[in-house]
Amino acid sequence: MQDALETRYAQAAAELDAIGDGDGLRAWEAATLGKKGWLTEALRAIGSIAPEGRAAYGKRVNEMKQALTAAYEARETLVREQALAHDLETNQIDVTLPGRPRPTGGIHPSTQTLRDFYDIWADMGFQVYRSRDVEDDDTNFTLLNIPPHHPARDMQDTFYTTDPNIILRTHTSPGQIRSMRDLGENGTQAIRVILPGMCYRYEQITTRSEIQFHQVEGIAVGRNIRMTDLKGTIAAFAQRMFGEGAQVRFRASYFPFTEPSMEVDVECFLCGGDGCRVCKYSGWLEIAGSGMIHPTVLRNGGYDPSVWSGFAFGMGPERITMLKHGIEDIRYFWGNDLRFLEQF
Ligand code: DAH
Repeated sequence: MQDALETRYAQAAAELDAIGDGDGLRAWEAATLGKKGWLTEALRAIGSIAPEGRAAYGKRVNEMKQALTAAYEARETLVREQALAHDLETNQIDVTLPGRPRPTGGIHPSTQTLRDFYDIWADMGFQVYRSRDVEDDDTNFTLLNIPPHHPARDMQDTFYTTDPNIILRTHTSPGQIRSMRDLGENGTQAIRVILPGMCYRYEQITTRSEIQFHQVEGIAVGRNIRMTDLKGTIAAFAQRMFGEGAQVRFRASYFPFTEPSMEVDVECFLCGGDGCRVCKYSGWLEIAGSGMIHPTVLRNGGYDPSVWSGFAFGMGPERITMLKHGIEDIRYFWGNDLRFLEQF
């Protein structure tokens, strides 16, 4: 019986050495050390061995159990390590490969231009004043010296609502009234603000006109503000926006809320004034409407026009962005086409 056991033992040890996977290990364990394994049965048989050989038998079987348990654990570790090494080799990760880039968002070209505006005007002491997009007819027109039936209303086709007095602002100029009333303390305080925001016009959408667009209005009210202040301020803005050498010129014009009124041109920065397609061979690009605030408008803002004066201007950041980047169609701005937006 001892001999048979020794043979079994030698066989089991040899089998174990040949096992290369988890399934094989589990089967071996069940057949050997498991509840019904031969070694467990051999251990259980100790009591039935004749007393004179029992001690030797028991000692030997326990040795076998210890040896095979240790061998089994060693084999198991080896098999696990081999599997891991195999895995690493077959699923190799090349950490030197470039990662997949995550798309990052960008700043909308209009927003970029607006931010340039904010910086430049802030340096000249103009704070941002946010006026409302939904206006009343009075503030958008009448208080700006555009009474009902005034022909100037035709220049700005309007989005009306079911309430005939409530409209979408057609320009940022009503913010002049609101900021003067809000900040002027009944016509006693000088003010200097820019009023950026969306404007809305009920127009045919074309390459040159959209139904919504930004404007940046600016106003300065004080006791001794003169036309030369307006000219110098606008010229300083143009030099920051378009470059040191930027030349500006002022052309007499008409706006109901300013007197006198002027349109501002900057020398074409694409051709340097020589004439090109963008400036229509004039050498100049129109960038703003401006003027000295009309006495009626000052009065509507709470100021006494015999003591106070001011200037105002209005600019279109989309138009300036188009000129700067050679964008030929204003519809790109709100078209949400990433191919356009990703260029900025
Ligand atoms: N509100 C005018 C428009 O939308 C632009 C404008 C012109 C604003 C002259 C001004 C100004 O403040 O002085 O066409």
